[in-house]
Amino acid sequence: MRIDVVTIFPEYLEPLNVSLVGKARARGLLDVRLHDLREWTHDKHNTVDDTPYGGGPGMVMKPDPWGEALDAVIGSGVQGEEPPVLVVPTPSGRPFTQELAVELSEKPWLVFTPARYEGIDRRVIEEYGDRLDVREVSIGDYVLAGGEAPVLVMVEAVARLLPGVLGNAESHRDDSFAPGAMADLLEGPVYTKPPEWRGRGIPDVLLSGHHGKIARWRRDEAFRRTVRNRPDLIERADPAAFDKKDREILSILGWGPGPDGRFGRVAPDVEE
Ligand code: ADE
Repeated sequence: MRIDVVTIFPEYLEPLNVSLVGKARARGLLDVRLHDLREWTHDKHNTVDDTPYGGGPGMVMKPDPWGEALDAVIGSGVQGEEPPVLVVPTPSGRPFTQELAVELSEKPWLVFTPARYEGIDRRVIEEYGDRLDVREVSIGDYVLAGGEAPVLVMVEAVARLLPGVLGNAESHRDDSFAPGAMADLLEGPVYTKPPEWRGRGIPDVLLSGHHGKIARWRRDEAFRRTVRNRPDLIERADPAAFDKKDREILSILGWGPGPDGRFGRVAPDVEE
């Protein structure tokens, strides 16, 4: 996969040289190219922003440098090959989810446009939206000073899904939010050696060697965590995904089906 990032702070993206993403790059699984937006300015102050039409606080990123930068980056692709997906980080975008990470991981080329100030002149998004698949994406309901940190988040979430990047191909099967087996449940707790630490042991079942019991225990723990931290995920879930044992643990946790079959809280939260 090729990833281009156009930014006024290329140094903000240094972490892409480290750990999983850094290794994927070194192994040739990921080709990351950083571009300084100011290279496409022509005044002596390398201006990238200006005051907003209509007034108001803050500054808006000018369309000209973005247009020249994106034309150059997009034009550097190989003729006849699939054009990039343009990913525009913005707090007013659609939520970034594991589902979107999976979708993006299947594309050959992504171009990220992290903005500073109050964002990029709207005409840039419209212009490229006419030619490319453009996704305006938010990484959460909070406002950051710029889109660079969101790019780090999204690139890491996408890169770990690329074939060959994680050692074990099974590693993301059980991820929280992964489609399939543990769909829409948070992952439960994990333990490693030593078997006793500061007087705290580990659950006996994990030492039992009984794979069926371990799988059931993990799923029960996933329900406990999800009920506690993300009850909205249980409320939203298709109840057809719950087997008899799932319904038992949900009942113990104070959850049951409503008139429409979907699960909701039917008894007060049990404090543990
Ligand atoms: N830029 C500033 N805040 C952001 C957010 N929450 N998600 C994506 N881009 C952003």
